[in-house]
Amino acid sequence: MATMPDRAELQRLLEVATEAALAGSAIVRSFLGKIEAEEKGRSGDLVTAADRASEAAVLDILQRHCPDLPILAEESGAIGGNPDSPFLWAIDPLDGTTNFAHQYPFFSVSIGLLFAGQPIVGVVADPYRGELFRAAKGLGATRDQLPMQVSKADRLSRSLLVTGFAYDRRDTPDNNYAEFCYLTHLTQGVRRGGSAAIDLAYVACGRLDGYWERGLSLWDIAAGILLVQEAGGQVSAYDGSLIDPSSGRVLATNGYLHQSLSQALATVPRLDLWQADPATWPKVGD
Ligand code: IPD
Ligand code: CA
Ligand code: CA
Repeated sequence: MATMPDRAELQRLLEVATEAALAGSAIVRSFLGKIEAEEKGRSGDLVTAADRASEAAVLDILQRHCPDLPILAEESGAIGGNPDSPFLWAIDPLDGTTNFAHQYPFFSVSIGLLFAGQPIVGVVADPYRGELFRAAKGLGATRDQLPMQVSKADRLSRSLLVTGFAYDRRDTPDNNYAEFCYLTHLTQGVRRGGSAAIDLAYVACGRLDGYWERGLSLWDIAAGILLVQEAGGQVSAYDGSLIDPSSGRVLATNGYLHQSLSQALATVPRLDLWQADPATWPKVGD
């Protein structure tokens, strides 16, 4: 049974992930404004030639440097490697395809490596701004080679949060709309970035104070979870319990806000209550 990689091996894997993320990022950038998107099946779930070309470049690099490690990639699914391996690369070759297709400059390439289900390497590259967010387990987190840290906001009323809405939002009452309204009411604002990987990277570098979302895939968040953890933040399930990155539901904060945000998500009033008197809305700890 493989053991957790030592420091030198973690550093090597981080460099491999970086090479792959930068290759994907250069390809995504080269396609910007030049291509049409097509729907993958679910309404609004888009894919472009850039997603596919970026993924091909990423896979080529990962397979060359780490032939034994299995890969889960958004456009290709599960690929190769030793099926009994505790390692798994989780790849999103273009996170934020809707933004990309509209030339809204907020998208990324996200490469995470999991060991026994938890991320140990994470790289998020922003093709538009050229920013690079990286982390390895126990080795800290950086933005453009400089150490990064989460923010210090310790009250919801002073925080700026981010969330997102999954592609099944029209088909389920568990669509995050009520949560979005309630947290917008309790905080200085809630952004909807449109790239889960950048949302997490921005919590990690302190531009945002917290993030929650449901309906995510492993490739959306594997890298970003580690960025937040290694930047001193906290990542969990909504109720504060141990994060299962494959559960699709994540709560990530600077740590100071974690309990308040978790409590708020547990006490969200029904959406129809928003027409009622605000004095009747649930109060939570700030
Ligand atoms: C999406 C983005 C978005 C999130 C969606 C994801 P995609 O990924 O991360 O922010 O809200 O749930 O599916 O489809 O652009 O790779
Ligand atoms: Ca994604
Ligand atoms: Ca994607």
